[in-house]
Amino acid sequence: MKSPLPSALEERGALGARLSSPSAARNRAAIAQALTGLLPDAARVLEIASGTGEHALACVKARPDIVWTPSDPAPGARASIDAWALVADGTISPAHDLDVTHDGWQRGLEADAVFCANMIHIAPWAAAQGLFAGASALLKPGAQLHLYGPFLEGEATAPSNLEFDASLRARHPGWGVRALTDVDALAAGCGFERTGRLEMPANNRLLSYQRSPS
Ligand SMILES: C[S@@+](CC[C@H](N)C(=O)[O-])C[C@H]1O[C@@H](n2cnc3c(N)ncnc32)[C@H](O)[C@@H]1O
Repeated sequence: MKSPLPSALEERGALGARLSSPSAARNRAAIAQALTGLLPDAARVLEIASGTGEHALACVKARPDIVWTPSDPAPGARASIDAWALVADGTISPAHDLDVTHDGWQRGLEADAVFCANMIHIAPWAAAQGLFAGASALLKPGAQLHLYGPFLEGEATAPSNLEFDASLRARHPGWGVRALTDVDALAAGCGFERTGRLEMPANNRLLSYQRSPS
């Protein structure tokens, strides 16, 4: 399988296979705390684009009742995720090799919720389209897709996110901080309604989309 362009935009530390992301160190506690209040009891959570695997670990520590299935198309990321999972008492499944631009990526998977952080701006728009299309087929009505990252919100957009958007587009013409209105429209076209928008550290948001009855 062909991996997408490398998309970690930071220097990561490494201890054996375990990678450490400075940004995950800054945001994982806030993400785990926010998701704790949003995930159903004993939820099976599928994470898309897990990166180092540190969000998975923080979330199962905060919610030991959930079972977390991480995924990433990058082999180095999957090795890191599986290495971090060793300290999670069996609540993190082996990482799946999953690329959301591949049609039918959700086949054979089961989940009560989907979580994806910091992918749709560091990948072509086709990744956002594939994420919502697959999640739509995967999730039952009422189940939620939670999306973390920066977004363009018209005049309310933080200057730091405008600068980040410009730097992403300079790096790759298909990348860029996505407009919240575009993400909402994509979601609606795939049978999701946005039910939440939490303000998170460093001008990020945690958006929640609920699968409508088909
Ligand atoms: C910036 S990293 C974010 C990692 C982690 N979620 C975080 O917030 O620290 C982006 C991740 O998206 C993954 N990715 C890129 N394109 C993808 C795709 N088409 N399908 C699934 N994951 C993808 C990359 O392999 C990478 O691990």
